[in-house]
Amino acid sequence: MREFEGKIIDESRQGQATIIEHTEKSNGKKLYLESYGCAMNFSDSEVVASILAKEGYQTTNDELEADVILINTCSIRDNAEQRVRRRLTNFKKRKQQQPGLIVGVLGCMAERLKNKLLDEEKLVDIVVGPDAYRKLPELITEVEGGQKAVNVLLSREETYADISPVRLDDKGVSSFVSIMRGCDNMCSFCVVPFTRGRERSRDPETIVKECKELFENGYKEITLLGQNVDSYRWNMTSKGEIKDASKPTVNFAQLLAMVAEIHPDLRIRFSTSHPKDMTDEVLETIAKYENLCKYIHLPVQSGNSNVLKRMNRGYTREWYLERIDAIRKIIPNCAISTDIIAGFCGETEEEHQDTLSLMEEVQFDFAYMYKYSERPKTLAERRFEDDVPEEVKGKRLAEIIQLQQQHSLKKNKQYIGQTHKVLVEGFSKRSKEHLSGRNDYNVKVVFPKKQAKIKDYVMVKITDCTAATLMGELI
Ligand code: 5AD
Ligand code: SF4
Repeated sequence: MREFEGKIIDESRQGQATIIEHTEKSNGKKLYLESYGCAMNFSDSEVVASILAKEGYQTTNDELEADVILINTCSIRDNAEQRVRRRLTNFKKRKQQQPGLIVGVLGCMAERLKNKLLDEEKLVDIVVGPDAYRKLPELITEVEGGQKAVNVLLSREETYADISPVRLDDKGVSSFVSIMRGCDNMCSFCVVPFTRGRERSRDPETIVKECKELFENGYKEITLLGQNVDSYRWNMTSKGEIKDASKPTVNFAQLLAMVAEIHPDLRIRFSTSHPKDMTDEVLETIAKYENLCKYIHLPVQSGNSNVLKRMNRGYTREWYLERIDAIRKIIPNCAISTDIIAGFCGETEEEHQDTLSLMEEVQFDFAYMYKYSERPKTLAERRFEDDVPEEVKGKRLAEIIQLQQQHSLKKNKQYIGQTHKVLVEGFSKRSKEHLSGRNDYNVKVVFPKKQAKIKDYVMVKITDCTAATLMGELI
């Protein structure tokens, strides 16, 4: 369980190319589109590929045959940006060998660094922020005409609601669907409100339509995405007032129910929940529908109320623990994972100990754990000093990771002897004789293949485990 950039997205998928179906007349040009960071970026890359496919571009897995290289980037922590910078330097060398090659930066780094990548460092030809992807065809044309092109305007409306990309991942089992964009929360450590703009929800009808199409195309699992899914609201202001009385309003609990009702064989996950906004109505909806996975990702960030205040998270330790109690009461056996930041500005040893004691109290099934990384322009950068020494951050993170390993192992051991419904996603990394999938609780389950196939739901009796994986037998 090491530190990595992309929540939900496996470390092994960082840098993966997006491939989608191409049905329009070809313009003879190939697009290589590489993604980093969170699931939202991977979902956005499908939108981008879809916009360019309409113009005749064919997606490719091979950067060497590309006419246009786009890289969808992440700014969440400094190491995420450094990784992309190394990649861009490589592409710059390629441009010297292939002068017509167009290289563009998309996503959060585009928004954050704007002209710097174009003018100062001369690394790329195109810079496009997360709300301007519809402009990509025009921008590419500008570059072909010899100019540099940039559009980093953030929007209050853009949700790409009408774009349902036809995904072509090699297995077609599980897909992301974005339900909202941006974030209004202003957690003091976080760059997302600056790079992805104001929060806006997508029309629920287009969400249900996209999910239905995916199910009809054979997909069995959907993860609904938003920076804070609990503040999803359609036809309502942030104060809860109705915008248009002639139309229905939809909140996140209602949206979950609408998607769950598409088909009992369509499994639904979602991310990310926010402790300050997660309602009992959402929990009751999860409890009601069998196909809503009994798994909630509820980032705590810190176990100390003063640190949470400095982080501007909008809740206290006690509030968080009350929400955990509500989950346990309304959805018995629900798996809970979290995000934790070690060494935030001014964090004392006692405050760090509070994070460890909260972990003991909650016993998370899984956690994404990070060292605090100061981001330019954030509230924390302006207000506080990044004063926890690097080695102290490292030591605290190691303690957090070690404790979480124990808890994950303990949780997984409790599953031994139980039978779980698993959606088969692919072969196990180690052997073609074993299949791998996830149970309802989002834990990876590996088992001997026998007659089972990818995309099947199978019942697996759990016989053994590590902190990260369950092993079992088909029954
Ligand atoms: N430093 C470290 N971790 C961060 N996160 C967000 N911003 C930072 C930062 N500046 C973590 C939070 C968030 C997750 C997506 O990334 O834990 O929940
Ligand atoms: Fe960042 Fe906080 Fe918004 Fe999450 S909720 S994206 S951590 S500002």
